Amino acid sequence: MLLPRVFPLVGAALGGVALAAPAPASDDLPALRTLAAARGLQLGVAVSHPSLLRRPQAQELVRRHFDAITPENALKWGSIAHQPHRRDTAAADALVGWAREHGLAVKGHALAWDQEIPGWLLAAEDTALAEALDAHIAQTLDALGAEVAAWDVANEVLEDDGGLGASRLLPGGDPDRLDAWFRAVDQRQPDALLLLNDYGLSAGGPKAAGLLRLVDGMQARGVPIDGVGIQSHLDIRHPPPPGALPALLSALGARGLVAHISELDVRIGEAGGARWGREAAQAWLVHRVATACIAAPACTALTVWGLDDGDHWTARAAPGPVGVAAGSPRGGAVLFEAALRPKLAAHALAAALAGQRPAFCDQNVLEHGDLEDGAGGWSTGGGRLQRSEAARHGGTHGLHHDQRSADWQGPVIDLAPWLGAGLDWDLGMQLRHDGPAPAPLRLTLRIEDDAGERFVPLAAATAPPGRWTALSARWTPELDGPLQRAELYVEGPAAGVALDVDDARAAVHCPD
Ligand code: G3I
Repeated sequence: MLLPRVFPLVGAALGGVALAAPAPASDDLPALRTLAAARGLQLGVAVSHPSLLRRPQAQELVRRHFDAITPENALKWGSIAHQPHRRDTAAADALVGWAREHGLAVKGHALAWDQEIPGWLLAAEDTALAEALDAHIAQTLDALGAEVAAWDVANEVLEDDGGLGASRLLPGGDPDRLDAWFRAVDQRQPDALLLLNDYGLSAGGPKAAGLLRLVDGMQARGVPIDGVGIQSHLDIRHPPPPGALPALLSALGARGLVAHISELDVRIGEAGGARWGREAAQAWLVHRVATACIAAPACTALTVWGLDDGDHWTARAAPGPVGVAAGSPRGGAVLFEAALRPKLAAHALAAALAGQRPAFCDQNVLEHGDLEDGAGGWSTGGGRLQRSEAARHGGTHGLHHDQRSADWQGPVIDLAPWLGAGLDWDLGMQLRHDGPAPAPLRLTLRIEDDAGERFVPLAAATAPPGRWTALSARWTPELDGPLQRAELYVEGPAAGVALDVDDARAAVHCPD
């Protein structure tokens, strides 16, 4: 058990400046819709009214990267019939008109959803409510059906245990009403794709099993269901088991059904650590979902639930500044920043569509870990650090640490701009000492966040004098809120013994 070391406050920061924040992801993102089309995949985005139509740059981004839109709220019963005995399709008409003008397909979300019963109808008797919904479905299809290629006929009808939930729209959990909705839409719009849409399916388990039972029953009753929307609202703190989504996609395909990834977003706010690390974990999950969809013949469309962090439902839901501050439940869940810059997730989606791994996987994030171009980010708790050729392990330079007055003094490199939760990290360094005899070397991570300060022992070795020794480890972050400190450091040899360090590495490990 390592005794926590009290580091002196005074530390020689080499390179003179603290590490700058990681550079933002590159702006040069290939047109995602083109990459998707080459895979036979429709790529959609949920858009809100009036936000999209007020933002020409957002419109340009949608047109460049997507070939379909889903009106986020405008086609919901609660939005259209928000006033008693009146129908207001202005928002829907505006978004559908915009899509038609720019040649984008429209996905209709959602005809029947218990959460979007108009408030003034909640007091109605079940029969009257059912009749009102039937009228809503008929009027919506008559008005907009010709413009809508696919409908989420029913949204979120399953319970977490996989049963058909009893609700105001499905009293007693009776599937007859559900069947009737699909039959009514099919009768009015036989060429549309009729989908059942739900969340909590990406991890498999009882809800996914219940979904398959439900669609089996519907098919057995001759109900015209064409497919399933797998919403995919994810969180980097709880990644779904890797095999669950491919298995569900395969099971739906085996039933002759299509599958849509219908509402993909990946929350990072409640996870701990640096933004860069959390956005890398987000990007990895986007990549994994897209790869599963591409690999499954049944998966014909992928829609992200929102364009940018500035106008996202998770940002609207909680007060405070939009952003991705660690520990905040707000925002940060989609492909583009509030300033419409592509995030790592956008690049990871492009990589998946191109059949490649994300560029950040297993790439050393440390600009000066190898000391070739400088020593920014390096410091020590005491002694002298000198970047020198004699201290090199690889390349032309390494870092020489002498005048050590205690065994705990060693080279320290700052990982705070990078380390975030959601993916494992590969951390390591090459070390050499000039002591008279084999000496202990220990690699430790010093973390300070909302949970306080702690020292994570990563690797240890007894190193012979003058021989390079690699110390490395794979670390699964356990972080709480923002990082105050994240330092990778070496200690061990007695005072007076000099250390050389080189080729420090910190890279997110993307699982296969
Ligand atoms: O536009 C009004 C505004 O005028 C009013 O001041 C404000 C305060 O009441 O409400 C605004 O409407 C809100 C609307 O979002 C637009 O922001 C509604 O109250 C709010 O209920 C609605 O929430 C939507 C939610 O579905 C419920 O319909 C979210 O935007 C939308 O992202 C979310 O999307 C759902 C999918 O439809 C189904 N799957 C889950 C997904 C996320 O919850």
